[in-house]
Amino acid sequence: MIEILLKDRTTERNILWANAERGAEEIQLEEIHLIKPRHEKIRAQQKQRTRERAEIFTPPDVCEIQNDLLADEKKISSPWTDYVDRKFLEITCGEAPYITTRYNAVTGAPIPIQKRVGLLDRKLKLINQQVRAVEDWKKFSARAVRSVYGYEFQGDNLFLARKNILLTVEDFYREKYFSNPPEDFRREVAEIISWNFWQMDGLTYSPPFTDEANLFGGANCKIKDWSTGKIFEFRELLGGGRR
Ligand SMILES: C[S@@+](CC[C@H](N)C(=O)[O-])C[C@H]1O[C@@H](n2cnc3c(N)ncnc32)[C@H](O)[C@@H]1O
Repeated sequence: MIEILLKDRTTERNILWANAERGAEEIQLEEIHLIKPRHEKIRAQQKQRTRERAEIFTPPDVCEIQNDLLADEKKISSPWTDYVDRKFLEITCGEAPYITTRYNAVTGAPIPIQKRVGLLDRKLKLINQQVRAVEDWKKFSARAVRSVYGYEFQGDNLFLARKNILLTVEDFYREKYFSNPPEDFRREVAEIISWNFWQMDGLTYSPPFTDEANLFGGANCKIKDWSTGKIFEFRELLGGGRR
């Protein structure tokens, strides 16, 4: 599963570390244990990342206020399935605290399911209320995951964002069915996440360092339109795009 969460769909390699220590090196499977969330990093490293990459994470109470403004599921009037399909993109997503709030991104304190306020948390909460059969649950949850997007420069953050999303789906499944989700479903979700949360320099729309090192020919980042199965460049969405 972890190998899927390391995939870069544009370069067809692994995502890069893209931090001060490791630059353009790919993250290897056996290095996963080196990845720590910001709240566990040493102070000097936190400071350096803030200085170099403006890395400061948003606490869940602020995410809650902003997500309420964007998407208050208590005020939905359209069919609940429309809410599941509503698309959101967390730009420069860090560990993705606007999408899922498994823990407080600032302090690291775990947050119980009932108190989670991320955009995907809200969708999964609704699915848990609306759906009984496990096959329906899997179908709607996969749709919910297809509807949330994010990009990030630093590979360790991106990996944690991806992992947080997969673990969130597992948490809500367990909450509903008191068992772990089946392996094939976890794999399907991991595949979706590996497309929807991608590594990109938001200033160039390319994977980090591709302009400087020209390793992959300065590729434009690719994303997937799940409704048609078509792959296209993120850049195409900008400037009055079609979708
Ligand atoms: C202020 S943090 C916000 C993270 C998260 N969205 C949150 O609210 O907690 C900014 C994030 O942008 C990332 N970042 C910095 N420069 C970037 C760039 N050129 N392209 C994409 N992401 C970038 C950093 O690595 C960092 O994770």
